[in-house]
Amino acid sequence: MTHLWWRDGIIYQIYPRSFQDSAGDGLGDLPGITARLDYLAGLGVDALWLSPFYPSPDADFGYDIRDYCDVDPRFGRLADFDRLLAEAHRRGIRIVLDMVMNHTSDQHAWFQESRLDRTNPKRDWYIWRDRPNNWQAAFGGRAWTFDPQTGQVYLHLFTPRQPDVNWRNPAVRQAQLDAFRFWLARGVDGFRLDVFNAFFKHPDLPDNPPKLGLRGFDRQHHLYDIDQPEMMPLLQELRTLLDSYPERYAVGETYLATPEKVVSYCGPDKLHAAFSFDFTSTNLVYPWNPAWALQKIVAREQIFTAAGIWPTTVMSNHDLPRAASRYCRGEDDAQARLAMTLLLTLRGTPFLYYGEEIGMRDIRLRRSEILDPPGRKYWPFYKGRDGCRSPMQWDDTPAAGFSSGTPWLPVHPNWATRNVAAQEADPESLLHFTRRLIALRRATPALHGGSFVPLHGPAGVLAYLRRSEEQTILVALNFSRRDVRFPPPEGSWQVVFPVAGGDYPGQLGPQEILLAAKV
Ligand code: NOJ
Repeated sequence: MTHLWWRDGIIYQIYPRSFQDSAGDGLGDLPGITARLDYLAGLGVDALWLSPFYPSPDADFGYDIRDYCDVDPRFGRLADFDRLLAEAHRRGIRIVLDMVMNHTSDQHAWFQESRLDRTNPKRDWYIWRDRPNNWQAAFGGRAWTFDPQTGQVYLHLFTPRQPDVNWRNPAVRQAQLDAFRFWLARGVDGFRLDVFNAFFKHPDLPDNPPKLGLRGFDRQHHLYDIDQPEMMPLLQELRTLLDSYPERYAVGETYLATPEKVVSYCGPDKLHAAFSFDFTSTNLVYPWNPAWALQKIVAREQIFTAAGIWPTTVMSNHDLPRAASRYCRGEDDAQARLAMTLLLTLRGTPFLYYGEEIGMRDIRLRRSEILDPPGRKYWPFYKGRDGCRSPMQWDDTPAAGFSSGTPWLPVHPNWATRNVAAQEADPESLLHFTRRLIALRRATPALHGGSFVPLHGPAGVLAYLRRSEEQTILVALNFSRRDVRFPPPEGSWQVVFPVAGGDYPGQLGPQEILLAAKV
């Protein structure tokens, strides 16, 4: 197929509670997103991935779902969703929903029934045992919680308020696939599958073998709690369902991802794509230099190209410190531009996280302000994920134009200068840079679809070619803070970005970015 939206386009992640509040309750909502669609269309994105907006008691801020087929009243109603979808489609923007199906909320009717007694029809919809094994929850503590009502423990890979469903039960499988059908029938274009490779656990629930690590969760090889072979037929069934509609898409959030693992879950009868998180290392240290980046890129290129799988690129999301917070010094955006250029010019589908286009930074919270469960548990060693979830900074009015009320999380103190309106007015801003680069990527087949050829640059420079049948584009990024000579490969090269025109100069200024086309 010549153009595929999910392969050639750009997907923009919205964390609905922080994007735009239309009701004045300090929480973003669906009508708020609809009101901002023109901005998103103007940015040039092809699809929106919406983090969960379903009814939820918010034990994990929406990633604990009480009902898969409805909208939480705080975010609107189903009619608001239909309107958002129709208005997005009218602008050529697709909608991707977040399906969190490894677990439900403990408030979901299924779990409420399941926990009533040991014999009810929903008992086996969750994983109940007399005794725990040694599995650990990703958010701390054991992965099992004792329920006094029936004297058994239930499994939860995240918080105790997120019981894992039993995907081995055919009724569960049906019910979950029905949720996909519900949203497909409403016209959604795709799904992001939360920790999909954890759906199936080993049927005997053996202990995981130990390994060295910091926290309990990291001190185990996750052999039996994730990546079980039964996932493959389920992916096939899901793919058949998606393929019964035109151009539908599924991207998996690969839990404990490696590129090798990711490609094993993708293909014509599996997922379209899965995240490999090559640039978002959740280690305490974030190396950020051309040698490290190139090594990551080349490694993933080899694995994805050999497997014939299309990669995704992620620099930021709702679980990680934002790229600008990781790489920039203070309010200087030079390194954010480098990260943005990588995101938009590597081979693979870029996922842009709301606010990344204006270089939003993480907020810092006092301990008493932390809302995120793992942050509350592990402070001060880990401060949780609230930092990257602060309200979108639209303008310099109180609450940054996000809400007329008190935002659920504080707005970043830099909002008065770092906001969409201010950057619209400044042609040199990161917002204009991003918009121009998106437009160039869209208009340049080599950039959205071409092959990737690494180049050997001098220290401090990351350079590569993107090549299609008809074009070759040179991407040259000087990560260093000094001038560097970097003669282009043989031939004649015309600069196409940041401003088109002129021969490629053969050298790069401090932290300079140049894209040039072979003529
Ligand atoms: C991954 C999601 O991205 C994260 O936000 C969530 O807490 C866990 N899965 C549990 O659903």
